[in-house]
Amino acid sequence: MNKRIAVLVSGGGTNLQALLDAQSRGEIKNGEIAAVISSSPEAYALERAKKAGVPGYVLEKKDCPDAASLTHTLVELLHQLDIQLVVMAGFMTIVTGELFQAYENAVINVHPSLIPSFCGKGCYGLHVHEKALAYGVKVSGATIHFVTEECDAGPIILQKAVEVLPDDTLEVLQRRIMETCEWKLLPQAVSLFCQDRLRVEGRTVHIL
Ligand code: GAR
Repeated sequence: MNKRIAVLVSGGGTNLQALLDAQSRGEIKNGEIAAVISSSPEAYALERAKKAGVPGYVLEKKDCPDAASLTHTLVELLHQLDIQLVVMAGFMTIVTGELFQAYENAVINVHPSLIPSFCGKGCYGLHVHEKALAYGVKVSGATIHFVTEECDAGPIILQKAVEVLPDDTLEVLQRRIMETCEWKLLPQAVSLFCQDRLRVEGRTVHIL
């Protein structure tokens, strides 16, 4: 039976689009994008979900007193929707331990750097590329990893590097990393998960 996938988003949703496109090409084996959950009603990602015929839900911080209650509401929704895999695709809201207890090794995140560089609390979106350029690294890239309670520190599923070029701006580097790394690796990792081909042993993810 197909695994039911929920994609958590906050913004433009280009990674969501990469997943939807991969699904329509038949590249998400044994999986089905069943829901898109957004932290903002304004997120363009919700439009992408609608166009693809995937139900969209909004879960806003302002409707919950704290991160724990937001997480509780999220887990209840995921259970109601019978979700087996949660994908954080540019999801910018802090969640707490209840999600990782309910979905152990079943929450995947995409991060736009080669973890453990340029990651952790407050390091998201363009901030990541800002730090990479300021440090002067010659390569950067993207990481797909399982999410645990410690921010950006869960077992790594896939990574891919790209060159940082002398004239790169934040936006140019971001785009290169998205196109070359994120939009390719995320659908691959999701498909591997849905085929039960990821086995976690300590910090190492074995691809079967
Ligand atoms: C992506 O680059 C993703 O890697 C990053 O936010 C962007 C979302 O873009 N996520 C993080 O920085 C998480 N720490 P999208 O909405 O177009 O997919």
